[in-house]
Amino acid sequence: MKKILFAASECTPFIKTGGLADVVGSLPKYLNRDEFDVRVIIPKYMCIPEKYKQLMVYKTHFYMDLAWRQQYVGILEATVDGVHFYFIDNEYYFAGMAPYGNIYEDIEKFAFYSKAVLSAIPLLDFRPDIIHCNDWQTGLIPVFLHDRFQENEFFRGIKTIMTIHNLKFQGCWDKKRVMDITGLPEYYFSPDKLEAYGDANYLKGGIAYADYVTTVSESYAKEIQMPYYGEGLDGLMRARSNSLCGILNGLDYEEWNPETDPYIIKNYNAINFRKEKVKNKTALQKELAMNVDEKVFMIGVVSRLTDQKGFDLIDYVIEEICAEDTQLVVLGTGEAKYENLFRHFEWKYKDRVSANIYYNNERSHRIYASADAFLMPSLFEPCGLSQLMALRYGTVPIVRETGGLRDTVTPYDEYMSGGIGFSFANYNAHEMLNTIRYAKHIYYDKRREWNKIIDRGMAVDYSWNVSARKYEDLYRRLLG
Ligand code: ADP
Ligand code: GLC
Repeated sequence: MKKILFAASECTPFIKTGGLADVVGSLPKYLNRDEFDVRVIIPKYMCIPEKYKQLMVYKTHFYMDLAWRQQYVGILEATVDGVHFYFIDNEYYFAGMAPYGNIYEDIEKFAFYSKAVLSAIPLLDFRPDIIHCNDWQTGLIPVFLHDRFQENEFFRGIKTIMTIHNLKFQGCWDKKRVMDITGLPEYYFSPDKLEAYGDANYLKGGIAYADYVTTVSESYAKEIQMPYYGEGLDGLMRARSNSLCGILNGLDYEEWNPETDPYIIKNYNAINFRKEKVKNKTALQKELAMNVDEKVFMIGVVSRLTDQKGFDLIDYVIEEICAEDTQLVVLGTGEAKYENLFRHFEWKYKDRVSANIYYNNERSHRIYASADAFLMPSLFEPCGLSQLMALRYGTVPIVRETGGLRDTVTPYDEYMSGGIGFSFANYNAHEMLNTIRYAKHIYYDKRREWNKIIDRGMAVDYSWNVSARKYEDLYRRLLG
């Protein structure tokens, strides 16, 4: 049995702020259990819902040195859907209403978490062959492992993988302060290691010290080797290009299934969506106090409201998007200017715009099931799971051709009768608007073509079937 330990800062069903949680919560379920014993370790945040905390059982605790301080580390465990989870407990670090707060605190929180993961391993009766790290919050794991833990026979030979879900977030802070927090010697704080542009950079440390680096789509793996998408680390990405690859995220097809989804009003599938899907639309229109009209073109948006997701393009032409023959349903939180933008347009066009400025998983399911089109004009997109959810629910994605969006949404081709969505190349508001208008034209004037787009979209397989095999190959190669 090959043993893999996933380390991450979020994971469904316990705690989620974005796609990272979806990936960490589903990939372990789909790896071959005859060959791999995969377990997951995450922080035990106070804000994890009570019903999940009740599943956790205390295992043990100890005190750990973090620089000059001694910190309590509790370990709890739980098994959900056949996957074994460990939780790192420390009420000082993991209090708070959300997993992340200000960066100043997070820097210390995740230094603690990363060292606690390594320190806990000898007490788990589970010595991983590979620690699979995710994003900057776990970037110090390969660094700590390289540092003092190597002196201990027990840790020697453990391999690490660093998966980049979003290169934009790197976990940067003042070098001196990070030295003080982590207790790592000055040796690590040079530009070929943790330092980037004068600061300490957790993700950079992880990338420099991991045995292998992956990211979540093939396009993004190429993009981050170029300055435009490289977020200042493109040089390092090029330097590591021999041990860097992109593996597309999969979607949990059991959780996201219009045929069995308990949150939607009317279940449907690839055969009966023509008749049944629209019942979700009218139900949602009622629920959101919009104009009830099964014919109107409904655009859905479920997203963090940030620049990454292309909201400045939407901002630029929102008046035109909210045309009389269109409804816009938005679910998301983020930058105040975008939250207010949608609130304003809901106030202006109550019958056709609905701004849901909060986080709500159930409602997200209902939007994926109800909308005709799903808009995701991202500036950059490492993979994107929302467009995969839309496809699964027969909702046609309208995306910008970048990263994982480019790799998953083949554009509609009127002449070849192919494609599963609509896309545009340049980060330009009018290009986006034209694409939305073109999609709307197909929807209103060529409904049979539109339905065939849905047929093809619902037929593609973006479950973990393919991608989990790629991770298995990578694990084998590393352990080979
Ligand atoms: P990212 O991780 O960059 O935010 P992804 O497309 O990979 O983007 O994943 C976003 C995930 O978060 C999807 O599962 C999406 O449905 C969910 N999500 C985003 N905002 C909300 C919200 N306000 N309410 C419920 N789910 C949301
Ligand atoms: C990040 C990316 C998103 C990706 C997700 C899961 O949040 O922004 O594109 O799908 O991680 O890998």
